[in-house]
This record gives sequence, C-alpha cells and structure tokens, in this order.
Amino acid sequence: MKKTILTITLFTLVILSILVITKNSQTATTIRRNDHQPQKQEIDSKVQVLDLTCEYKINPIGIDVKAPRLSWKISSDQNNIMQSAYEINVMDENGVSLWSTGKIFSDQSVNIAYNGVPLKSQQRAYWQVRIWDNNNDATKWSEKAYWEMGLLDSNEWLAKWISIPNEEKQKNRPCPFFRTNFNTSKEIKSARVYITSLGLYQLFINGEKISNDLFSPGWTSYNKRLQYQVYDVTNSIKKQNAVGAIVGDGWYRGKIGWLKPNNFYGDKLALLLQLEIDYADGTSQTIISDDNWKVRTGPILSSSIYNGEIYDARLENKDWTNYSFNDNNWRSVTIINHSKDVLIASQSDPVQGVQELKPIKLITTPKGETVLDMGQNMTGWLRMKVNGPKGDKVVLSFAEVLDKDGNFYRENLRSAKATDTYILSGDGEEIFEPHFTFHGFRFVKIEGYPGTPDLEDFTGVVIHSAMEPTGTFSCSNTLINQLQHNIQWGQKGNFLDIPTDCPQRDERLGWTGDAQVFCPTAAYNYNVAAFFTKWMKDLAADQRKDGLVPHAIPNVMPDSDGGSTAWADVAVIVPWTIYQVYNDKRILEEQYPSMKAWVDYIKNRAGDDYLWTEDNHFGDWLAFKSEQASDYTGATTEKDLIATAYYAYSANLLAKIAHVLRKEKDAKIYEEIVKNVKDAFISEYVTPNGRLVSHTQTAYCLALSFDLLPDNFRSKAAKYLADDVRKFKHLTTGFVGTPLLCKTLSDNGYSDLAFMLLERKDYPSWLYPVTQGATTIWERWDGQKPDGSFQSVGMNSFNHYAYGAIGEWMYSYIAGLNIDPSNPGYKHMILAPHIGGSLTNAEVNYESGYGTITSGWEINKDEFCYSVCIPANTTATVILPIEETEQMTVNSKSIYQVCSDVRTISNQTEITIGSGSYDFRCPTASLK
Ligand code: BGC
Repeated sequence: MKKTILTITLFTLVILSILVITKNSQTATTIRRNDHQPQKQEIDSKVQVLDLTCEYKINPIGIDVKAPRLSWKISSDQNNIMQSAYEINVMDENGVSLWSTGKIFSDQSVNIAYNGVPLKSQQRAYWQVRIWDNNNDATKWSEKAYWEMGLLDSNEWLAKWISIPNEEKQKNRPCPFFRTNFNTSKEIKSARVYITSLGLYQLFINGEKISNDLFSPGWTSYNKRLQYQVYDVTNSIKKQNAVGAIVGDGWYRGKIGWLKPNNFYGDKLALLLQLEIDYADGTSQTIISDDNWKVRTGPILSSSIYNGEIYDARLENKDWTNYSFNDNNWRSVTIINHSKDVLIASQSDPVQGVQELKPIKLITTPKGETVLDMGQNMTGWLRMKVNGPKGDKVVLSFAEVLDKDGNFYRENLRSAKATDTYILSGDGEEIFEPHFTFHGFRFVKIEGYPGTPDLEDFTGVVIHSAMEPTGTFSCSNTLINQLQHNIQWGQKGNFLDIPTDCPQRDERLGWTGDAQVFCPTAAYNYNVAAFFTKWMKDLAADQRKDGLVPHAIPNVMPDSDGGSTAWADVAVIVPWTIYQVYNDKRILEEQYPSMKAWVDYIKNRAGDDYLWTEDNHFGDWLAFKSEQASDYTGATTEKDLIATAYYAYSANLLAKIAHVLRKEKDAKIYEEIVKNVKDAFISEYVTPNGRLVSHTQTAYCLALSFDLLPDNFRSKAAKYLADDVRKFKHLTTGFVGTPLLCKTLSDNGYSDLAFMLLERKDYPSWLYPVTQGATTIWERWDGQKPDGSFQSVGMNSFNHYAYGAIGEWMYSYIAGLNIDPSNPGYKHMILAPHIGGSLTNAEVNYESGYGTITSGWEINKDEFCYSVCIPANTTATVILPIEETEQMTVNSKSIYQVCSDVRTISNQTEITIGSGSYDFRCPTASLK
C-alpha cells in the first residue's frame, strides 16, 4: 500500500481553521456577543450573502410558523471559504428592531430559527444578514428579504362561510360562482386576501385571476386541518371593485377513494374570504364573505378529479367579476356553520402549471379515432383553442398508452372517466381549459371538434407542486438518461400537493409505501422539504390514537386500513430523510410523537418475542412473478420477515432521532429494542448456516442493509444475494426490495452486478420500459409486454414512481453525491463516484442549501477526470477508486501541492477539500 504523504501548505492551515470552526460551532451557535472589537474591513463583494429564504421560501407571505427559520447562501470566487460568524437583523415595517443577533460565532447558515419579539398576525418582518468568513472578513449586509405572518388566531377570521342555498340534489352538481362588489375611497397602501374553501377555489378580482396557484386550498384531512392562502392584491384593488370565486368539488366532496361515492369530507361547498385593505392614511377596511354576496351556478356543469369536467360555454356570465356586472338575478348566499379552528396557513409549495407541452403528432388510429400524442406521459390537462357553431360539443378523453394495434386504450384507468367536455358558445375563437380536475395522459382522443384539429390549437399544461428543481443526473448511457427523465416525470406527475401513487386511475392517493421508498430520490430531484413537512403533518393528523398509520394520507379509507409494514414506516423514514437532506431538526421535533407512536404500535403488535408475525401487510408488492418456469412461481418474501426487518429499521432510526433531539433515555430504549429484534430475526429467519428462510433478493437486501445478521454471516448473505442475481440474471424484487437492491449489492462488493441490473434491457429491469418507449416509470415491470399486450387492468399504471427509487443509487453511487449522516444537509458531504458497467461518464448537479454541488467523472481515452465543485461553507471528503496517487493532478498541479489531506484507505484515495472547484486527473491505469 502506498504511504500517505502529507504536504504542509497554507491549505492545511485553512482546513484546520475550518475544522476548528466547525467543531466550535456545535457549541457556539448560542454564544452571543456584542462585538465591540475592532472589525476587519468588509470584504469587497468577493464573498456575498444571497438567496435568503424563510421556511424554504423566498419572501413568503401568510405563514403561521411562530419561529420561522432563516437560511442564506454564500457565494465566493475563492476556494476554502467558510462562515465563521453571522449577524441577523430583523425589523418591522417602520424599521423598529424585532431581533438583532449581534455577532454569533457559528458556521450555521441554514435553518436558523427566529428568536426575537413575538410576531403578530399579518406582521411583515424584513431581514438582512451579514457573515464573517474564515479570514474574519465581514461581508456587506445582504439585500433585504421579508416574510409576513398570516392570521394566527381563528378569532381574527371575521369572514363567514358562504354557500349556495337549496343546491339541486342531482348527481353532477354544477360549480357555484360567488361574487360581490365593494368600493374604496382612499389611497391604498396594501391589500391582502385571506381565503380558503370547502372544495377547491379559484379567485378573481376585477376580471383577473388572482394567482397561478391551482387546486387551492390543497388536500388535507379537511375536518382536522384546512389550509388558507394569502395573496397580495394591492395592485388589483381600484375604487370600484368586484371580487368573485368559483368553488369546485375537488377532494372535498367529489369522488375520492372507494369508500364513498362522493361527499367524503362534506356535502356543502363553501367559501371563506377576508380582504384586508390598509389605506395610506392609516385606516383600514375589511371585506368579508357574508350574506351580502351573491351566488349562482354557471358553465361548469360538473367537475370531478377522476372523471373530468363538463363545461357549457353557453352558460358563461361574461364579466361576472367586473364591478359593472348586474347580478340581480343571482341568488343570495347562505351562511353555513363550519369550524374556523381547523384553519392553518399553507406550508407546502402550491400546485401550479409549471410547464407547457405541444403535441407532437395527430394520429388517426386503426379504429379511426382522432388522437393527439403529447410525446410525454404527463399530469395536467389540455388547453384547447376552438372555433365553431354554438352548441357543438368537443369531447377530450385522456389515456396513457395506445394498445398493440395503435388504438386508444384506457381500461387501466378503471372507473375514472378522465374526460373533459366542452360545449361551444359559438362566439368566435374560444379557449378551454378545465378548472378542478387533472388527468394522467400522453394521448388525447378528440371527438366532435368542429373543422380539422390542428396541433397548434392544443397545449398540454403540466401541473405539479411548484417545488424548486434541485438535481440533474446524466451519464454516457442514453437509456439511463431516459430512465432519469422518466423518474423526474414520475415525480412531476405525482407530487400534486401530496405524493400520489398515480395520476390517472380512480385512485390518486397518498400511498405511504410508494412515498417512503421514493423520498430520497425525490429529494435529489427537487427541494421537497416544505412538501413533505406539510404531508407529515397530514399523517400525524390522521394517525390513529394507538399509533396505526393509515395506508394512504390523507386517509380516505376505513380507520382500520393501515399499519402495513414498509408503508406505515413512512412516519419515521420521511422525517429522517428530510433531516438528512436539509439538516432540518424541526421536522424531527414536530413528528417525534407520531414516529414514536408508530414504533410503539409495532412493539405492541409484535409483543414479547419481538417478531411481527401477524397483521396484514402488502409485502414486497408487485415483485417478480414467473410465467415461464413452472417450478418457480416467483420471488415471494415472507411478509413476517419483512415486517420484523422494518420493525428493527424504524426502531433504529427512532433511536438515532432520539439522539439528535437529545432524548437519550428514549434512544436507549429503542436501541435495546433494535438489539432484541435483531436477535429475534436471527433466530427466526436465519438458518444456522446463514441462509434466510425466504431465499430472495429482497430478504437478503433487508437483512444486509438493515444490519440484521451476525457479522460472520454478512459476506455469506451477500454471496447468496449475488448468486441469486447471477442465477436469474435479473432482479426479482418488488416495492420493498427494489430500492435496496443495487445499494446492497454495491455496498457488499458486487457493484458489477448492480451495474448489470441497471443496464439490463430485457424484462424485468428498469430499462425494459425505456426500450418500449416509456416516458415515465411504470407501476409494473411488465406494464406492457414485449408482444404489446398489457398487464391486468386492475393494477397497471404507467406513471407510478416507486421503482424510480433507483434514482437514489444513480445520484449517490454512480455520480457519487452523498450526505455525511453525521454532518447532514450537505454541510459536509462524501463525494464517492463509481465507474462501472459500460459507462464512460456520469455527472450530478445539485442545488443544496449552501449552493450548487457538482460531481462528475469521465474516462477520456487513458485519463480519468473527476470534476467537483462544492459551495462556500461546506467541506467534502472525496473518495476515489484509485490506489496510485503519484501521477494524480488537481487543477493541473500535483495533488500534493493542492490538497494537504490525502489518505489511502482500503485501496481507495480519500481527500478532504474545502469549498471551490477541483479538477482531479490521473491515468486510467491508476484506477483499481
Ligand atoms: C397503489 C400502490 C399502493 C398499493 C398498496 C395500490 O393500489 O397504487 O402504489 O402502494 O395499492 O399496496
């Protein structure tokens, strides 16, 4: 083994100072000092503080987090920049200080909780920050950012719930339109709307739609938690005004799930709106939803998430949100009693139309159907331009795939009608898009279109929660790049306020198991901190008193439907993942009772022998089934084994979480449980020779990655796993085993097999659907078979992200971007790229809480090149598969001139780096 050489350079001193600062910071965050010592000059803009966010958002308004967390990024054109101290100033609108930290010696720049004067409802707080770097140079003060509080007390809601009186009892209930007029008399300083609904709403003022948000107020367990939104409407208010809102059934009273035909949360739609106007002279005016409002139904004859919308343009009330509109023949609203105590501010990213796609083809199918091909399986709807006679009816039906003959196919949507119907007004060019429905589709059948449809007349509106895109992965294999595309589109198609299983059939529910396995991949692709924070609160709200977690959140099933292993464990796994990715301790604190209740629930169910051997579980859902070999039915992993393994895993995470939260007593309790479960697992499921009773890939993945084997059996188990993969030459895993498979193989010395599985093109594999033209992840390995036939209609979605969980391995193992669990949130990261399979390059770009991280490698003839960029205020350990470092260069210099800390450990080279860009190169012959 080559001796490690240390070259002492200035860099060593920098790294040492970084380490000292980092170490001190753990205790220093609370040290506050009025720094009257002479300061060094402000750094002249080389180091800058920017991208200020509050609760993961830029200048949010209407939040109800009492101690919002503040974050910033630091940009610098120099390497090895760390923050050694920061100072935050928070002021109210008049410049009066609300919180002034003084100089705090800390390297924390992410999620610093406001700790100033208690914030009042509707209060706006402006804030600025400056930092000192590791040379003790101060930056300039950042630009000002702000946040604004919502209504913190339900008594502040003066508005009344208004509804439509004597609604027809018909099946398709048309959407009510609510409106009122009001006047203002003075110069307006600011105006805010606070709004929510029972059902979904769209808001208009003076003829304009307020906000691009869709599906507001979002989906929560409405009778426990109901979100409101706040909009700045200062520029929309005039002297004479009209305000109006349409309310649709949505999840509230449309059909959702299979328990009830409709009315899951209630049978009355309603609106709650409060418009607060502040005048320049210091006075104010409040407009509320009350009995002065008028209501009537209009062109939206029916609106259903599963079934689509029927819109009759002949019934439009043109200008209904203009002041001059005559609403004499509208009805007076009725006031209903509904709790305001359940109101909460929105926390997640709103659903929006994020992207638009033009169709790529107009097809006439063998059956003679006129079908648009969007070229991409997407979630949203079709915007249509049409010109024709009054009363003509255009019917748009949505499907994900064509059948083997090329005909329109949608039996896999089960009972979802997924059809939008538009009846023309005949007033020239008309544009239609639905209001409160969405479809999962690539193909649209068009019927009744007057004239010949032209591609130009149609646009696909792609909707999803407007999360910040954070990650890209690419490599030299174009099929894998398409897989990555499909994974990201699986996320776009299914992160619609909640993480849904699928966007097309009569389901679209927040299935917990799917979200659990996909969450780490999701957090590479997009910033999902706010999204999952909100959904975890939904989970806690619907969790049963005894700790049982429902199968899907929000829960629309009977209360007894829940508690499945690997599904309900979402309660622990998601908060842990969010903590790891964003260094967000608050989600751990807030979810702690829920997580603990879930693990305690398992403990009760498992009982004294620590084996969870009863209850209903989904098991390794949709695992490989053999249709050819009559002596092998498929890979069945015993559900009890899975349940006991997940018991250990969740208890282990809970113990770690208890440590993070300094609940040492709890940590001990759960560590003890883990030990007992592991012992029980070994005696029940592992033969004396180290074979698992379920001799499947999934079982070995669980046992190895959840650390459930005696040390001396680990390599044997890994060999059993590898042998199984070699025997079948393919994966046999379902929802539970698949996310662990490549990870477990590569962690145990079989990365060649992991690459083989990833690059395999035949069924079953990740790339088989890609070879079949998939543009999203399929629910089943063989959703469409090589002969073009389909899997059974009951369970065959073409947009189900669970198997996309392989994305985590692609980002972390191939491209090499890993969190350091002991210093999470990418404050310190492990960059460990891996060459394998046919790949000659791979790269990840990732926008972390500190800034952009790049990790990319390439084999260029005889040279291995590895480019890294890590943001200011972070450090990394680079681990390269290289033993021989003599010929290695960094930024065109010998590695020893640039890096002080170069170690050879287990045939690999480990290098500690500070922020900045590094270009490592060495001959490929040096690779091990
Ligand atoms: C969903 C799955 C889910 C499962 C429970 C299905 O109907 O689509 O993705 O996890 O039920 O096993």
